[in-house]
Amino acid sequence: MKASAIIVAAGSGVRLGYPTPKAFVPLGGAPLLRYALAAIAQVETIGEAVVTLPPGMESAARAEIRHAGLDLPVKLTPGGAERQDSVRIALELTSALAEVVVIHDAARPFATPASFAAAITAAARAGAAIAAIPLADTLKRVSEPNLIVETVPRANLWLAQTPQAFRRDLLVEAHRRALAAGIVATDDADLVQRLGAAVEVVPGASLNFKITTAQDLAIAAAIVAARADRPEPPRGADG
Ligand code: CTP
Ligand code: MG
Repeated sequence: MKASAIIVAAGSGVRLGYPTPKAFVPLGGAPLLRYALAAIAQVETIGEAVVTLPPGMESAARAEIRHAGLDLPVKLTPGGAERQDSVRIALELTSALAEVVVIHDAARPFATPASFAAAITAAARAGAAIAAIPLADTLKRVSEPNLIVETVPRANLWLAQTPQAFRRDLLVEAHRRALAAGIVATDDADLVQRLGAAVEVVPGASLNFKITTAQDLAIAAAIVAARADRPEPPRGADG
């Protein structure tokens, strides 16, 4: 069976400080959620999707599924308290027949279909694969309040993004153990790494940043506007 996609969109977006939940904040005339849905709509190897939502957003999400042209079975569910809880809840709703599950943040509107496809293919082969980019800046460790302690050598340091794809049995076991042991991680790859399993990286993109603050949203809006100005028709969430 094809891969299951989980789109985590249940966060409220406290740091963005917008009145609506972050996944429903407009970007270039469409809510953020639509970009993620439009991207997975173009991935041949995805066969179903589960979307975690803030309370009361089910009908708005159904509308976005239509607008995105996502012609797959899609389950909607309330999220949990933390992102990790939302992923675990969504994972329980994915088909047990799916070999691979790919997870993506609705807060990253510029992920390409190619990055989903690459993560899914690598996870099917190697067990787990995440989009990531090599660190470009110099990294400093700073002690409170503002004193540099050291420069952290940047060789081999990468920034983790989503999509993140895993063999389903591996991801289920990683979340089961994390729940039992009270482990909270900032991404799913970390939970799988704790099993001792290999996790590969596939090419992410600096454009695939996560919208966290109002400034991030302003940058994203400028990117969407610049695409709309191009003579070529914009390709939606792709490239
Ligand atoms: N998310 C989720 N369930 C939660 C928390 C987060 O599904 N309980 C999702 C968000 O909707 C987002 C992604 O996980 O797409 C990454 O989380 P983040 O960027 O932290 O979004 P928010 O939690 O909404 O933002 P903030 O932390 O500023 O409140
Ligand atoms: Mg958050």
